[in-house]
Amino acid sequence: MIGLGIIGLGNVFEGPYRAELAPLIRDGRVVVEAVYDPAAEKRAFAAGLYGVADDLSSPDAVIKHPAVDIVLILTAMPAHGPLAEQALAAGKHVLVEKPMATDLTTAARLVQAALSAPGHLVPAPHVVLSPTFRSIHADLAAGRIGRPTLARARYGWAGPDWGRWFYQSGGGSLFDLGVYNVVSLCALLGPARRVTGMVGTAISERVVEGAPMAIEADDNAHVLIDFGNACFAVVTTGFTMQKYRTPAIELYGTEGTLQLLGDDWAPDGYEVWENSRDAWSVHPETNPTWRWTAGLAHLVEAIETEREPLIRPEHGYHALEIMLAAQEAGRTGTAVAITSPFPAVGYGDWPDVARDRRARHDPASA
Ligand SMILES: NC(=O)c1ccc[n+]([C@@H]2O[C@H](COP(=O)([O-])OP(=O)(O)OC[C@H]3O[C@@H](n4cnc5c(N)ncnc54)[C@H](O)[C@@H]3O)[C@@H](O)[C@H]2O)c1
Repeated sequence: MIGLGIIGLGNVFEGPYRAELAPLIRDGRVVVEAVYDPAAEKRAFAAGLYGVADDLSSPDAVIKHPAVDIVLILTAMPAHGPLAEQALAAGKHVLVEKPMATDLTTAARLVQAALSAPGHLVPAPHVVLSPTFRSIHADLAAGRIGRPTLARARYGWAGPDWGRWFYQSGGGSLFDLGVYNVVSLCALLGPARRVTGMVGTAISERVVEGAPMAIEADDNAHVLIDFGNACFAVVTTGFTMQKYRTPAIELYGTEGTLQLLGDDWAPDGYEVWENSRDAWSVHPETNPTWRWTAGLAHLVEAIETEREPLIRPEHGYHALEIMLAAQEAGRTGTAVAITSPFPAVGYGDWPDVARDRRARHDPASA
């Protein structure tokens, strides 16, 4: 049984990660051993759920807890990097919400630590795990739409009315929302070479947690990414988007078009246009119950089966480099070179059981 420690017991703990944990606990694969949040009522609530101490006095007490194997970091963004570093140094596995750090120096130390530490480091988002994303990735690799030349991705909403840190320095819509698109596009198109864009604050004052606040962080962005060979993508993101009915990701290739519907963190199937067929094919969502928190079950499975997780720290670093470059480009009006490498997503070690099963029944879906 794998011991879990949770640091940060706010919104994403209370809803999504608690739901992700329930079957893992029910099936006897995970036991929650320690929880911490500076807010005593949140600590008491989580401690009551799992029958653990409600009086731990710091994140360190979770990290150093002898029965904790995985540290789940769900705090405000600026705390992610330092806590992940401490947990890796203590020999623990780490799942850290996005972004894995808010500066490249810390992120580089994390990547290095993950290479030598006994524990895995799994940085959110977990988009590459969804069955729909895997199918798109396979279709693209098989040349179903030819060579990709253009892509558009978007994710946004009106913005949280909780967590003032979302709008303070070290927060912002690019780190919170655009990160999904950036990670998705890089998984599909490979490492970026160059970034430019417009990143700024469109709404300078908001009411958050019932009180007005001046907004410091970006809430609005168009980010242009050059993937080399004249393959260009744009990410549209912000706490400025009330609703939309457009695809999350549009991929344009020399032989066709592929569109992921829904959001990349909550896919709703996909559509493909192929010149060779002169037709669209519609691929309905195969697993509507897939959750964006799936990285936790994935990390548990990686530990149980002694495999490397699909989600790599180098990918998280690359996404952070792109987002910081976009912020710099927004300030200076320049294009910024991107230099970090990251390995292609290694689905080979993680067979897609659902896709294999579909292929047996319908060879056209292979
Ligand atoms: N809210 C969402 O829909 C959503 C979705 C996906 C990912 N995320 C990510 O999950 C993380 C948490 O988001 P949230 O919406 O739950 O925020 P939240 O503000 O509701 O919760 C964050 C919690 O972390 C605690 N905290 C802050 N600093 C801490 C520290 N140093 N040590 C321990 N605890 C600390 C706070 O007291 C708070 O309870 C963020 O990184 C966010 O980007 C959020």
